[in-house]
Amino acid sequence: MTVLVGYSSKYGATAGIAERIAATLSTAGLPAEARPVADVHDPTGYDAFVIGASAYLGSWRKDATRFVRRHHELLAGRPVWLFSSGPLGTETTDAEGRDMLTQAVPKQFAEFAESLSPRGTQVFYGAMDTSKLRGRDSLVGKMPAVEKILPNGDFRDWPAIDAWAQDIAREL
Ligand SMILES: Cc1cc2nc3c(=O)[nH]c(=O)nc-3n(C[C@H](O)[C@H](O)[C@H](O)COP(=O)(O)O)c2cc1C
Repeated sequence: MTVLVGYSSKYGATAGIAERIAATLSTAGLPAEARPVADVHDPTGYDAFVIGASAYLGSWRKDATRFVRRHHELLAGRPVWLFSSGPLGTETTDAEGRDMLTQAVPKQFAEFAESLSPRGTQVFYGAMDTSKLRGRDSLVGKMPAVEKILPNGDFRDWPAIDAWAQDIAREL
């Protein structure tokens, strides 16, 4: 059994999460490969899938969405987990008192719940370094109103990521 931990990451935060999940699965005895989904042209050799991408403006990154749509028949017949990385900061609720992780579920997850019936979906806190943002992200990221909801820093919750990966290993 080999697990694909496929990811789409713009600045590296989600790639780090995917590498960590693959390492945790491997340590648990399940061979796992972390690879950008854009490089995976033929996924038929994988027995299970963990697919993750960062969210920008409410949407999962396009190449992860494209990968899942293109291979949905294969994925629907095998165990699949999805994750998203995004919310920044140490708050657990937003200004309206709503759960940060629930609010950050990318809109594509509703579609994939129907087309794939994933065994699990999860949102993880992300990471951002405003000095590394490019193009439009740089303009948006530096807007004073946005800086409040998208603070700089690495907020990835490694214990939560490890626990999720260990649950997957147990299920498989
Ligand atoms: C312009 C911009 C928009 C963002 N929009 C969202 C969003 O809608 N939801 C969210 O959870 N995170 C959002 N984020 C935060 C990123 O998803 C987060 O930094 C993520 O961990 C980046 O991962 P990556 O480096 O793998 O792309 C946004 C960040 C920027 C710079």
